[in-house]
Amino acid sequence: MQCNVFFLALLGIGLGIAFPQQANRTVYDDLLTSPTEYGFRSFNRKIDNQIRQLRNESIAKSYSKCQNACALLAILLTNVSSPNQLDYRPLQYWSVQQSEVTPACRVDVSSAKMISSTILVSNLTNCPFAVRSGGHTSWAGGSSIQDGILINLANLNMVSLNSDRTVAKVGAGNNWYDVYKVLDPLGISVVGGREAGVGVGGLLLGGGISYFSGRYGWGCDNVLNYEVVLANGKIVNASPYRNAALYWALRGGSGTNFGIVSRFDLGAFEQGLLWGGNRFYLWDNKDVLVDTFAKFIVDAPMDEFAHLYISFGYNIQLGGFAGIAGPAYGRAISNATIFEDLNKIPVLFDTTHIASMGVLAVELNQTDFLRKVEEIFKTVTFKSNSTLMKKIVGIFHEEASNVLDVTGLNPFFAFQPLSVNIIAHMQKNGGNVLGLSEADGPLTIMNLNWGWANSADDGRVNAALDRFVFRSVELAKSLNLDHRFIYLNYATLDQDVFSGYGQKSLTRLKVVQKKYDPTGVFKRLQPGYFKL
Ligand SMILES: Cc1cc2nc3c(=O)[nH]c(=O)nc-3n(C[C@H](O)[C@H](O)[C@H](O)COP(=O)(O)OP(=O)(O)OC[C@H]3O[C@@H](n4cnc5c(N)ncnc54)[C@H](O)[C@@H]3O)c2cc1C
Ligand SMILES: *[C@@H]1O[C@H](CO)[C@@H](O)[C@H](O)[C@H]1NC(C)=O
Ligand SMILES: *[C@@H]1O[C@H](CO)[C@@H](O)[C@H](O)[C@H]1NC(C)=O
Ligand SMILES: *[C@@H]1O[C@H](CO)[C@@H](O)[C@H](O)[C@H]1NC(C)=O
Ligand SMILES: *[C@@H]1O[C@H](CO)[C@@H](O)[C@H](O)[C@H]1NC(C)=O
Ligand SMILES: *[C@@H]1O[C@H](CO)[C@@H](O)[C@H](O)[C@H]1NC(C)=O
Ligand SMILES: *[C@@H]1O[C@H](CO)[C@@H](O)[C@H](O)[C@H]1NC(C)=O
Ligand SMILES: *[C@@H]1O[C@H](CO)[C@@H](O)[C@H](O)[C@H]1NC(C)=O
Repeated sequence: MQCNVFFLALLGIGLGIAFPQQANRTVYDDLLTSPTEYGFRSFNRKIDNQIRQLRNESIAKSYSKCQNACALLAILLTNVSSPNQLDYRPLQYWSVQQSEVTPACRVDVSSAKMISSTILVSNLTNCPFAVRSGGHTSWAGGSSIQDGILINLANLNMVSLNSDRTVAKVGAGNNWYDVYKVLDPLGISVVGGREAGVGVGGLLLGGGISYFSGRYGWGCDNVLNYEVVLANGKIVNASPYRNAALYWALRGGSGTNFGIVSRFDLGAFEQGLLWGGNRFYLWDNKDVLVDTFAKFIVDAPMDEFAHLYISFGYNIQLGGFAGIAGPAYGRAISNATIFEDLNKIPVLFDTTHIASMGVLAVELNQTDFLRKVEEIFKTVTFKSNSTLMKKIVGIFHEEASNVLDVTGLNPFFAFQPLSVNIIAHMQKNGGNVLGLSEADGPLTIMNLNWGWANSADDGRVNAALDRFVFRSVELAKSLNLDHRFIYLNYATLDQDVFSGYGQKSLTRLKVVQKKYDPTGVFKRLQPGYFKL
């Protein structure tokens, strides 16, 4: 062994002496010789010369991988910026953890072509990248990257409706408010997020629970076509008719395994005003709230316009532990019959009213008390059952109570509906990757959303949160009410979401990955999110 190393070292030195030019060989040399081999078109004289200068600079200053990448990007593209520039303005994120991460450089892309060049440069230089749509992932590196290339989709902000009002083309950098503010005045909507600031990209690629899911399924079930930049820089469309396997995989498989989506073509429908908002309740009403929700999930197929989630949490402004309901109805009708039971529960206060999707989304937008806190998401799924849910509310109360002294603590969790009508709509267009069938339902997705002020408390809060989830899952298992599904958009990075889709989906996803990213570009160079 030692002998081999010695021999290799000798050989290396030997080569260095024999061919001095080899020592200065850079990533640029091959690129300049045959750009097309690396996916680029041939460079014009000016750019060719700039790259040659960069090559010499890179040798003289011993550039790192990402210094090479950023310098090359700055030659090839406009709107490449770097945190060492005085006028650099960092992007805003939903969580503090993501804001603390600083890229080597950022590319504000405005076309699929710009994304393509950026991926090619990343692979050429071996400098990793991250992609940011609405920036609502909670953990560091989810849509940010330390010392790598940050691809900011915000300038991909088109929203346009076709002439027969059935397809909305939506750039991948929009947030949901951007979409609704264009479509609302046209009397049109799409199956999208409930909160204004959440991004189109992440929500649609991981699933997408919407007020309209009872009628149409999740967001991913209503994407008619994706414009995607593949690992090799090629720009393709994926629909039931073109690249059908990729189309299937993007419906819940996350963009971070297959390609970067530059545009979503969404199924659009006529939609006037709707009813929605939040109702807040004293803690004493927790059991009746659960009973109402459990009954709602069973009743939901009878009225596809209806939507309901419930939530429990602790917040000083709410007077301590409290319950919340988020009912919505896809027509301009208050207190529809299906909410009869809910309407009987006495409220602390009530924000429900008839409004446009955009207005409702802004009302639900990130409230002040959850800002500037460390955030964490986590999720599990159960067979919908009121006995189980009531006990889980009890476990939450115990575990949250243990850490109430943590500064700025806002522990919340919600039960979200997966009624059988929603699952039925997931089967259209060849089905999605989530691996759910009507026989699985009705299910309840439980998602946790805890905020607190100081990273010093991370350990304690995470421990309480983990205990809460662990005890809830153990209880569900003991009652035979557990379910494998883990909703990607509410999961933390250590959760094995793809196994939760079931073996059949998992196997097929891997086949699609092999076909569209055979050299593992996304796996190697985009580290921060769920990987197959
Ligand atoms: C306050 C809040 C409200 C929420 N409300 C809902 C809700 O109503 N319904 C629901 O289902 N979920 C909801 N979620 C969960 C939400 O769907 C996820 O957090 C989602 O990932 C956010 O998407 P984003 O674009 O904002 O995040 P980002 O962090 O920008 O993106 C998430 C991941 O997707 C990747 N990605 C994004 N765009 C693309 C693209 N175009 N191509 C390839 N990869 C891409 C990113 O690289 C990143 O890894 C909510 C979350 C929060 C924090
Ligand atoms: C290699 O780099 C060194 C140091 O920058 C320089 O002196 C030398 O001329 C370079 N050789 C070639 C072939 O570019
Ligand atoms: C780069 O360096 C080489 C050798 O050191 C030199 O011949 C060449 O002119 C330089 N190119 C540019 C564009 O500066
Ligand atoms: C560069 O960014 C500016 C400001 O965001 C934008 O108006 C412009 O269109 C961008 N140019 C390109 C080529 O993306
Ligand atoms: C939503 O909230 C975020 C964070 O507070 C804010 O930056 C954004 O402007 C809000 N969006 C809308 C449409 O109100
Ligand atoms: C990415 O780079 C690797 C070498 O690091 C190469 O083998 C692979 O072919 C490249 N992939 C693509 C899609 O260009
Ligand atoms: C709807 O029900 C709530 C709760 O019972 C009640 O406060 C409100 O007045 C009702 N609104 C209408 C329009 O009936
Ligand atoms: C809920 O689960 C409990 C415990 O397994 C069971 O006894 C009960 O019948 C279930 N309730 C419903 C409505 O299925």
